[in-house]
Amino acid sequence: MSDKKLAGRKALVTGGANGIGADVALALAAAGADVMIGDILVDKGKDVAGKIARSGVKGGFVALDVTDDAQWSRATAATVSELGGFDILINNAGIEIASLLINVETEDLRKMCDVNIIGTALGMKHAFRAMRPEGAAGKGGAVVNIASVAATIAFPAIAVYSGTKSAVDRMTRIGAVEAGKLGFGVRVNCIYPGLIANEMGVRLANDIVSFGLAPDVNAAVSDVVGQTPLGRLAEHSDVADAVIFLCSHEARFITGVGLPVEGGMGT
Ligand SMILES: NC(=O)c1ccc[n+]([C@@H]2O[C@H](COP(=O)([O-])OP(=O)(O)OC[C@H]3O[C@@H](n4cnc5c(N)ncnc54)[C@H](O)[C@@H]3O)[C@@H](O)[C@H]2O)c1
Repeated sequence: MSDKKLAGRKALVTGGANGIGADVALALAAAGADVMIGDILVDKGKDVAGKIARSGVKGGFVALDVTDDAQWSRATAATVSELGGFDILINNAGIEIASLLINVETEDLRKMCDVNIIGTALGMKHAFRAMRPEGAAGKGGAVVNIASVAATIAFPAIAVYSGTKSAVDRMTRIGAVEAGKLGFGVRVNCIYPGLIANEMGVRLANDIVSFGLAPDVNAAVSDVVGQTPLGRLAEHSDVADAVIFLCSHEARFITGVGLPVEGGMGT
């Protein structure tokens, strides 16, 4: 029996083909969990699943558009059958389309609501159904929703993205209460990552400049770092370590919380 923190656990990571999700998936595998990647990016998702399988645990990929209820049914069934269970869901898939409120486009707003709010809600629905005692996996578990520091501060150019992440925060708490009171054996928490210099973060820094909110990208980044007591941007590993903790036995009595992983930016 492995002494790794998450040995024997069975995880599904949405948006696990790229960015934070890919590194969270690899960290879950390093902690001993078998991991299924669910994403709309098939080739990249299969690459991450291959890396996981080569690391000595089970790794799989399932095509999953988180906005689609039927695809969630298939993805959770595939997780249970291919991994032999399902007791960790990382609701990580998310999109951010920056805009000043004066210029927002309805279609962009709907896309963010679809992926960030509906995608997260459907994830909790299908995790609860599978993980509750009478479900196909039936052993309870842990759900971690990836919100954002944007849910806790007033950062210009991302009003609606921030609103969707505030919704993730609120749904997390209600999910935790329902799952607890109804005896599902599932803990539900969320994380507020700070800005990361990955594709999404760099695109936001460029948008900030193009909207006239900073003279250049360096100034935009320095502004964020200046608002962060620990004096740097966030990194994927900061988020991954917090995810591992929230899924672990050490967090067994923690549910319904939002954990800031942003160096104090939202304090
Ligand atoms: N990058 C940051 O600075 C930052 C900060 C705080 C929170 N976040 C949040 O972290 C999460 C991951 O962000 P990231 O920086 O890795 O972004 P990313 O764009 O690199 O990765 C997002 C992943 O989600 C997938 N995805 C998008 N729409 C999907 C859908 N409909 N169904 C399934 N998968 C879908 C993408 O294919 C991609 O693999 C997001 O929820 C994001 O809002 C990011």
